[in-house]
Amino acid sequence: MLRSVILAASRSTRIERLVETAPFTRDVVRRFVAGTTTDDALRATRQLVGDRLAVSIDHLGEDTVSGDQAVTVRDEYLALLGGLAEAGLTPATEVSVKLSALGQKFDERLARDNAHAICAAASAAGTTVTLDMEDHTTTDSTLDILAELRKDFPGTGAVLQAYLRRTEADCRELATAGSRVRLCKGAYKEPESVAYQSAREVDKSYVRCLNVLLSGQGYPMIATHDPRLIAIAEDRSRWFDRTPDQFEFQLLYGVRPDEQARLAEAGHTVRVYLPYGTDWYGYLMRRLAERPANLAFFARAVASR
Ligand code: FDA
Repeated sequence: MLRSVILAASRSTRIERLVETAPFTRDVVRRFVAGTTTDDALRATRQLVGDRLAVSIDHLGEDTVSGDQAVTVRDEYLALLGGLAEAGLTPATEVSVKLSALGQKFDERLARDNAHAICAAASAAGTTVTLDMEDHTTTDSTLDILAELRKDFPGTGAVLQAYLRRTEADCRELATAGSRVRLCKGAYKEPESVAYQSAREVDKSYVRCLNVLLSGQGYPMIATHDPRLIAIAEDRSRWFDRTPDQFEFQLLYGVRPDEQARLAEAGHTVRVYLPYGTDWYGYLMRRLAERPANLAFFARAVASR
């Protein structure tokens, strides 16, 4: 119920303005977002890489509404990738990209071309791109664009969301040699017709998908903070004889840093998803919807003012 209310708020421009201008917001944003500029992202990345963590950087923004805006986002990624290469932060660092920020909602071809340019820059910088997954109306289009990008850049990865009923089948399709798949639970409000609604059903789907990916030929990227799922993934990776270079764990910046360190200490590859930029509202609201404790953090920040 609370999750639905917060996710609905994540689409409200009125609430967005209220949150953005509230005095306590900065402290809350700082916990989950690296900063607003490319330099902020590079600084945070350097620190994480120094702690033996891999990184995937996300330039925040989604649902771009004009071609100019989409090209600006593309150029931001090109500058970021140049900066990463110059700073010697690749290949430990890759980038995550939302196709809706590149124009997918109004011009699929433009989004594909922009993504192609980003993949080319990533390849020149010695790293890869992972396509984030957004709401279910974009899944087919995102997977189609992924298939096209992989013709030129086979290392391009995609995200699959365990809450979608279709995802186990998508995992089978993508569990092939060279394919990089990030498996997450899913962060959007989706109807029952396409998505499991209870946490138990989503978790069971996650484990089924995990089995498909770990027993397949691709490179699974296990994106969750859930202790039970992480324990199951550690166990299944041993069962399927996966060595540490054949899969990785991924967690969000600011979420369970102790667990990030523990997994890395245990010899796993751990990648931190690091967002930066000024357009943080939708991202922040999805994080708050995921976990009541994050809301308590928000409340504490308000109270301390
Ligand atoms: P969930 O939120 O259900 O939490 C399960 C348990 O984990 C909790 O009960 C608690 O024990 C523990 N936990 C969670 N947060 C904690 C915290 N802050 N402190 C302590 N314990 C905590 N979604 C999407 O739709 N498209 C995408 O492209 C991506 N990309 C993506 C990349 C990466 C690297 C990650 C980690 C996640 C995404 N997501 C995503 C978000 C994802 O779909 C999901 O919403 C969040 O990861 C939350 O789900 P969890 O699996 O972490 O479990």
